[in-house]
Amino acid sequence: MKKNYEKQIDSLLAKMSLQEKIGQLNQPETPTADNEEAFMDLVRKGLVGSVLMSVGATAGNDPQGSISVDFYNRIQKTAIEESPNGIPVLFGRDVIHGHKTVFPIPLAMTASFNEELIEQSYRDIAQEASNESVHWTFTPMLDLCHDPRWGRIIEGTGEDPYLGSVVAKAVVKGLQGENVGESDRILACAKHYIGYGASEGGRDYHRTEISDYTLFNYYLPAFKGAIDAGALTVMSAFNDISGQPITSSRRYLTEILRDKLGFQGLVVADYDAVCQLERQGVAESEADCASMALNAGIDLDMHDFCYLNELESLVENGKVSMETIDTAVKRVLSVKFEAGLFDTPYCVPKDYDKAQHRLHSREMAAESMVLLKNENHLLPLQKSADIALVGPFATERRTLLGSWMLDGKERETPNLLETLRGRTSGTVESSNGTDLSLDRSLRWMTHADVIVLALGEKWTDTGESRAVSTASIPNSQIELIRRAKATGKKIVGVLFCGRPVVIEEIADLCDALIYAWHSGSEAANAVCDLLFGDSVPSGRLPVTLLRSSNHIPLYYNVTSSGRPVNCYYGENPGECYVDSLPTPYYPFGYGLSYTEFAYGDICCNTPQLRLEDLKNGQKFRFEIDLHNVGDFDAKETVQLYIHDRAASMMRPLRELKAFQKVFVKRGETCRVVLELGFEDLGFYLPSGEYTVEAGKFDIYIGENCLTPRKTEISVL
Ligand code: NOJ
Repeated sequence: MKKNYEKQIDSLLAKMSLQEKIGQLNQPETPTADNEEAFMDLVRKGLVGSVLMSVGATAGNDPQGSISVDFYNRIQKTAIEESPNGIPVLFGRDVIHGHKTVFPIPLAMTASFNEELIEQSYRDIAQEASNESVHWTFTPMLDLCHDPRWGRIIEGTGEDPYLGSVVAKAVVKGLQGENVGESDRILACAKHYIGYGASEGGRDYHRTEISDYTLFNYYLPAFKGAIDAGALTVMSAFNDISGQPITSSRRYLTEILRDKLGFQGLVVADYDAVCQLERQGVAESEADCASMALNAGIDLDMHDFCYLNELESLVENGKVSMETIDTAVKRVLSVKFEAGLFDTPYCVPKDYDKAQHRLHSREMAAESMVLLKNENHLLPLQKSADIALVGPFATERRTLLGSWMLDGKERETPNLLETLRGRTSGTVESSNGTDLSLDRSLRWMTHADVIVLALGEKWTDTGESRAVSTASIPNSQIELIRRAKATGKKIVGVLFCGRPVVIEEIADLCDALIYAWHSGSEAANAVCDLLFGDSVPSGRLPVTLLRSSNHIPLYYNVTSSGRPVNCYYGENPGECYVDSLPTPYYPFGYGLSYTEFAYGDICCNTPQLRLEDLKNGQKFRFEIDLHNVGDFDAKETVQLYIHDRAASMMRPLRELKAFQKVFVKRGETCRVVLELGFEDLGFYLPSGEYTVEAGKFDIYIGENCLTPRKTEISVL
């Protein structure tokens, strides 16, 4: 809590009744016409601390009405003018990857490996959302995930803890800025703390089994990134870890989150997660749920009214102390002060540059898309080419906006067909369906210069409570690719997918392949930018693309097996499974460009440093020349991975520890500098203690996690 609010908070606390204090810990959702009066009555009594600006647990999957600023201003006016102490209400909404202007789904934005663009996107998002009464958004979602079947993998940052922490920082900075109290900034919320992405079998809401060693090294770093960047709120996760629900765990919510990671802000429970403790079998009554959650460290109760119903008697019978209540209330009030609610409680919409936000979204979308294959330089296409555009996503709009999207408009989202038609002087004929008996689409395919297949998965197959048992596109679409292939024409596949789908057959059949994700309002324009070379692809995979769902989990930063069967790295793959090849089809960090980059040798300032000097801030510094030897000006993401050869615990074969996305003109060379310091070379012991151990490290620098280019350093 910032010092300067302490006095004001204390003086407010001194005036508040217990009931009013508990009201600050209560977050109902937006009322419907049926319960509006009862809701306003609660506001009037000071029993609504915050409002969840949507209806239903899986709001991102359900259409919601648009926001009425007047209505939220009316709630605010009632709180300020009629409640006992006039404390303003905090309005929170799931503005996950865009408000009016929709940006790519978070997993796609991560693929840009461009923290400046991510920050800029969230800056725009904050500006648009704050203009419609939103003070607080429930993002960034930082659930590391190794299972593409999980529908919510699309909301996160993929399989890498370091990349997750870089993205977390960029999102928090973009949303909150230097001063979240400014009227066009909003509060960030790092969620879902912790382990939700490890849900067994990718089945949403299921149990997780995570050792402390794995927790500290894989799952927590992104949260640490968000907290270090100043995230003022955290949302707790639905799941348990090894039988301990997070919502009732003092260990996870207080000892680790606050005492170890240093978080000082507000913790909100996920939707109904407090009363869910009964279903999870650790509480016998609603009162148990409330006391367990508050005592564990949940400050704000989302939607289920457990706190409002139970805390007063729990204080009276001594199961919850006044001090615990006051601590939680202070955190809520502190966030309200930080967000400027006491100074400017009402929303006064302002003009903003919508066209510029659309341009930013287009730039972000183009940088997010990953070129997976481009045989014989099929792409970029000539603008005069005759194109047969076929497939279920040719005229689709809503799916381009992705899941967890409440406020973007389908009608403001150009589809691929109309965009393509506007961009070429050739003819574009299109068939939307996958119905292969359609003679017309086969005829178009036969006569066109090139076939563009618009494939993918529907937005309704992704997001919360939308797990699938096989992470793939439907068979009918694979059949469509086969039929297109049979025409003998060149095929460009454009995959509008949320999750990383199994790719083997699709990639084998297509001549060129773009992973276009669900990329928001400007997805179609961005695809055309890439198809015609107006942008050069520069996205890189934040997750491994698999040959088969049967290989789940498969991720790059695994530890070495005792026998020589590290299948990710192609070591004796036949000994992994006797019936299939378990190597990744496309590895983490992979992505092509239209140009070609040649890497020079790695130069290091010093091959060895003493541990003591590292602690005192000295760094290993690596320099490498990057030559653009192709025909296009382009961006490349230079990635640095480490491997700690021998440590007291087994360490991953490769771990991303630094990267830089650089723009190099064709024919030019750029010298890229990457550094490694104390905070990059260590790991967490199962106790949570961070350690850097002396010894040798392999350093790999290159274009993806399988790069063979390496050098060696030693910590003495
Ligand atoms: C449940 C989801 O898990 C969470 O991410 C979201 O923020 C809340 N519902 C509120 O809609």
